[in-house]
Amino acid sequence: MASSLSLLVAIILCFSSLRCLNAIGKGYRLISIEKSPDDGGFIGFLQVKQSNEIYGSDITILRLFIKHETDHRLRVHITDAKKQRWEVPYNLLRREQPLRVFGKSRKSPVTVQEISGPELILSFTTDPFSFAVRRRSNGETIFNTSSSYENFGEMVFKDQYLEVSTSLPRDASLYGFGENSQANGIKLVPNEPYTLFTEDVSAFKLNTDLYGSHPVYMDLRNVRGKPYAHSVLLLNSNGMDVFYRGSSLTYKVIGGVFDFYFFAGPSPLNVVDQYTSLIGRPAPMPYWSLGFHQCRWGYRNVSVVEDVVDNYQKAKIPLDVIWNDADYMDGYKDFTLDLVNFPHAKLLAFLDRIHKMGMKYVVINDPGIGVNASYGVYQRGMANDVFIKYEGKPFLAQVWPGPVYFPDFLNPKTVSWWGDEIRCFHELVPIDGLWIDMNEVSNFCSGLCTIPEGKQCPSGGEPGVTCCLECKNITNTRWDDPPYKINATGHKAPLGFKTIPTSAYHYNGIREYNAHSIYGFSEAISTHKALLDVQGKRPFILSRSTFVGSGQYAAHWTGDNQGTWQSLQVSISTMLNFGIFGVPMVGSDICGFFPPTPEELCNRWIEVGAFYPFSRDHADYYAPRKELYKWATVAESARNALGMRYKLLPFLYTLNYEAHVTGAPIARPLFFSFPDYTECYGLSRQFLLGSSLMISPVLEQGKTQVEALFPPGSWYHMFDMTRVVFSKNGKLVTLPAPLNAVNVHLYQNTILPMQQGGLITKEARTTPFSIVVAFPAGASDGYATGKLFLDDDELPEMKLGNGQSTYVDFYASVGK
Ligand code: NOJ
Repeated sequence: MASSLSLLVAIILCFSSLRCLNAIGKGYRLISIEKSPDDGGFIGFLQVKQSNEIYGSDITILRLFIKHETDHRLRVHITDAKKQRWEVPYNLLRREQPLRVFGKSRKSPVTVQEISGPELILSFTTDPFSFAVRRRSNGETIFNTSSSYENFGEMVFKDQYLEVSTSLPRDASLYGFGENSQANGIKLVPNEPYTLFTEDVSAFKLNTDLYGSHPVYMDLRNVRGKPYAHSVLLLNSNGMDVFYRGSSLTYKVIGGVFDFYFFAGPSPLNVVDQYTSLIGRPAPMPYWSLGFHQCRWGYRNVSVVEDVVDNYQKAKIPLDVIWNDADYMDGYKDFTLDLVNFPHAKLLAFLDRIHKMGMKYVVINDPGIGVNASYGVYQRGMANDVFIKYEGKPFLAQVWPGPVYFPDFLNPKTVSWWGDEIRCFHELVPIDGLWIDMNEVSNFCSGLCTIPEGKQCPSGGEPGVTCCLECKNITNTRWDDPPYKINATGHKAPLGFKTIPTSAYHYNGIREYNAHSIYGFSEAISTHKALLDVQGKRPFILSRSTFVGSGQYAAHWTGDNQGTWQSLQVSISTMLNFGIFGVPMVGSDICGFFPPTPEELCNRWIEVGAFYPFSRDHADYYAPRKELYKWATVAESARNALGMRYKLLPFLYTLNYEAHVTGAPIARPLFFSFPDYTECYGLSRQFLLGSSLMISPVLEQGKTQVEALFPPGSWYHMFDMTRVVFSKNGKLVTLPAPLNAVNVHLYQNTILPMQQGGLITKEARTTPFSIVVAFPAGASDGYATGKLFLDDDELPEMKLGNGQSTYVDFYASVGK
């Protein structure tokens, strides 16, 4: 009764005032704070001011922990003072020490008002409690939870509902909060919902929660003519809605804790450096993975795959990696081979041939393990008790193989079982990398399912299977039907929609409710470990689902897009976001996944895709064939654009090294290099590779010109260095862009290491080097700098000082 009354009050308040989101509570009062004796942080206690039952009971006493962890990183952590709550289990996942240590605290009165670090200063109000973070260098407040400034409510902390807001200046440019396809480009758009909960929702669906969860944003502001970037991570794996209203941002989270990290920047590159130093540096990628990849669902036998490789060679289009989707498996079962269509001896002979050429082979792998008593992987999984459970039994779902169980990668036993299976499979088929798909995790059924009596669920065969299990929705638990419904899949659907019910559980009783969005992350960690053990080389893993830290283990592609101009445009902003998320090896399905793709679009797509960090053509089972040699015009565009990529390989490999040691994205928004030039803050139709190679592609049908923005300086056309754009203060330039040509410009002050290119990275690597030195055009003096990193890409680690790597710093000057 009490709770329905308070809900009614909330609704009335909501309708009667613009402060619709303010009705939840009166917040907390800070009752004590003192320096923690152990770790240099501060520990405080917060007491709820007035309890209510909206979305559950308030947690009455909270513990606050504040620490300047480095000169540029501030942490603010708030949790239940009396009870351990769910937090992202990095220690379990990575078998490392936990990220955080709390000291004991005595209660003491509030005497401090500010906690200062070298650049960030945290201040707070006591009643109601709010905190603000400001910069020492310019006095600018970057985060402020005080409701007195803006139209939002006080902090709320319940078991299944956490809410906090910050005010923002109206002119801040925000980037991040993914994974999300935004038609409007990289800048967050006010009044768009950003929901984070990993889902198998096709990437062409705009403004909805997609495969990954990255609760982080970068904020770029121009303060009195000077650019300052910082970022804010809310380290929390529970589902959440983030509402951006232009002058404020509100987090509504359905569990876990508030664990905020503020990264001071002040440049965008500083921000990603500071961010990846916490979450893990991006994985070093093998040299070959920077070559071009061809994949497709529906390469149904070895001859088809052989044919594709031969056709690339005939068309003289570069190709390094050939992929197999699930077609190679027996009945879609992981770690098996369809011996009819992929006879072992024939496959091995093929792999031997391509390996001798320097080509590589990558195959798909799905987490769902077919429930089949005669299937060894399943038997060993059962024997080792590796599956996610529901009511004491492995949870039954349905994916391509028919009924499946999902391995629980939080369980150490699963990690070793998975490693053994990968080892066995690698002995059967010498793969060079693994593609881990469907790991949100994707399930064709929703709810609690059983295999219908007397009925067989289809396994293998052609795709397009719908749920054949008998299922009933689970709504009777607080995990499946939480009091606050996030905007999951865009329509506040039950949380377990086409995934594992959130009341299922993992190792040590960990609820799926909490661990849902780290499934793909945990699978990537296990797979990385397994490949490293088996191959002793730098692993290559492509994962669909990602979380904070996934870049340390895997590359990412942006999922099931469409053969549309819009999907091509969106691919740029999604790629640029993943650079900010610490997953720099990223790309989209070139020419679009779903059928069909017009020829003109495929031309334009390879002209963009040739410059994705991860460059792969992939298509759906039912799509018409889309290999680049299929159309004469596309083949020509591919030879042109990929021809340039293969000449740029030493540069790309150096960017891969820089990404690994500093987190610097390989593909970057223009504002990374030109933060003073505010016109480029929302630019999502052009991008940079590294700091100074700009791609300005055609993204619309029927265009043979492109309007491109040129930040101030001299820009040299990479295909014809005599064509220079000089832009004094920055300008829009209309560039010719015939169907087979892409505009790529090199910025002044740059030294670019290049080689002669070729049809495969192994050969391209052995061709003579050249360096391109770009001084400001027409200037009598100037300078240029560049870098080159080289090593043997078989080495698991990518670093200097091991006697097997080279780093060159170039410097040139002209005039004075
Ligand atoms: C879904 C993936 O997104 C897609 O790339 C793949 O082809 C299919 N699963 C089939 O494995």
